[in-house]
Amino acid sequence: MKRKSWYQVILSLLVVSLVFLVAGCSSSSSKTNGVKKIQNRGTLIVGTSADFAPFEFPIVQNGQKKIVGYDILLAKKIAKNLGVKLKIENVEFSSLISELKDQKIDMILSGLSVTKQRKKSISFSEPYYTTKNVLLVRKADKNKYSSISQLAKKSIGVQQGSTQQTVANKKLKKSNLVVESVVTSLATELKDNKLDGVLVESGVAEGYVSKYPDQYAIASVKMPIEKESQSYSAGIAKNNQVLVKRVNKVISKLKQNGTNKKMLNQAKQLQQKYSK
Ligand code: ARG
Repeated sequence: MKRKSWYQVILSLLVVSLVFLVAGCSSSSSKTNGVKKIQNRGTLIVGTSADFAPFEFPIVQNGQKKIVGYDILLAKKIAKNLGVKLKIENVEFSSLISELKDQKIDMILSGLSVTKQRKKSISFSEPYYTTKNVLLVRKADKNKYSSISQLAKKSIGVQQGSTQQTVANKKLKKSNLVVESVVTSLATELKDNKLDGVLVESGVAEGYVSKYPDQYAIASVKMPIEKESQSYSAGIAKNNQVLVKRVNKVISKLKQNGTNKKMLNQAKQLQQKYSK
């Protein structure tokens, strides 16, 4: 009697583990589809909003227009890791997430911040860059604003669909918010006295200041940022965890061997030399 029940236990354990094994295999093969699909196509399609130097911006080199930047260098590394070609789709920032959900692109690399809200609809890789918000102003106004209250009734530009728009809606209620689809137009309007400031991330603001030191400056006022949105990650479709893992591997390697810093410098140099 005793023996028989041991057999039964072992047998049921075997059955249970077999069930797990089969389930595990089938779910992992459905997960790899996301990467397989890209590899079968032979091309990784990355969506970006090329208005955000040094992360993504257009240049004309040898008479040819192309999109370059830190995110594009990262995209190249990821495509190489997958053994495929790279195609960059330039999409308005506020449409990137729906393009990803509609499977028109495989991945977003666009200075995309991780937020709880976005996490509901897409997955994120490990972060690859940390940032904060600043106020880009005309050089003459460099010392004009040291507190948020001084921004009351001022026209402050933010990019549509960005975390800057979200935080400005909450924390800059007294300002006149001007929402536009591309950051480059906001910067031009600031220069042309149509805006008083642009709420934008530090890396991008610094880019404007170093490229056009006579036109732009960063105000001393400390700008609000949601804690959750302080880093950039690749945006990937929710069901594509295999791609998330591949991208995480690439990112951690770049961080470990310091290539990420070199990529940023390379992008900054391109911005200084070729961007308009
Ligand atoms: N980090 C901000 C966000 O995720 C702004 C990103 C804007 N990116 C761009 N390429 N314009 O909302």
